Amino acid sequence: MTSFGLIIAIDGTAASGKGTISRKIAHNYCVPHLDTGLLYRLVGYHVLQGIDPIDAANQLNVKQAEVFDLKTLQVSNAASEVAKNPSVRAKLLEFQRRFASKPGGAVLDGRDIGTVICPNADLKFYITACSEVRAQRRHSELLVLGHKISYESVLREIQERDERDTNREQSPLLPAEDANKIDTSDMNIGEVYDLVCLIIEAKLEK
Ligand code: C5P
Repeated sequence: MTSFGLIIAIDGTAASGKGTISRKIAHNYCVPHLDTGLLYRLVGYHVLQGIDPIDAANQLNVKQAEVFDLKTLQVSNAASEVAKNPSVRAKLLEFQRRFASKPGGAVLDGRDIGTVICPNADLKFYITACSEVRAQRRHSELLVLGHKISYESVLREIQERDERDTNREQSPLLPAEDANKIDTSDMNIGEVYDLVCLIIEAKLEK
């Protein structure tokens, strides 16, 4: 099998669909995928249990992501709080860079992949949508998972998190200059995926 070889950085706002797109791309091209938000969620989860954020980052064990419920609003908020901490970010940066150095290529999704973690990524995407559409999508996901929560609280949490992620000093959420920017407010996931694949195929042909 020919090696895919591309490093693909997929950044974007909370609940923009970047995780779903990243997983589908990784599956389609048989490349490893890292959801970097899970790393911050794991640290946030441990902080909620009373552990020091830097200790939690030092003891990071990604296998725990399969065990704990990391999708709650409390963990989302704790993740974006710990994400402001430069020592936590520095620790997680090492892990992410190691992952991205895989010779066959990789897909990483997060907030600062194209700007900080992999500034030399072969392809960069920045995926977003208006906050109301994102809140609707996340609300439906949470209901399916059995969380009893109102649309309004999901919307509030997404807007607060966007605000915190965009305005923090360390690695704020912003599109890399050379990112392909996609607003998915009026697109379904299949349309977004087809567009991303077209851009990847064009890159692979070069
Ligand atoms: O992507 P997800 O919503 O799971 O990320 C949870 C939080 O982790 C984000 O709100 C953000 O504060 C933080 N994060 C980050 N940098 C990344 C990925 C996530 O700061 N690369």
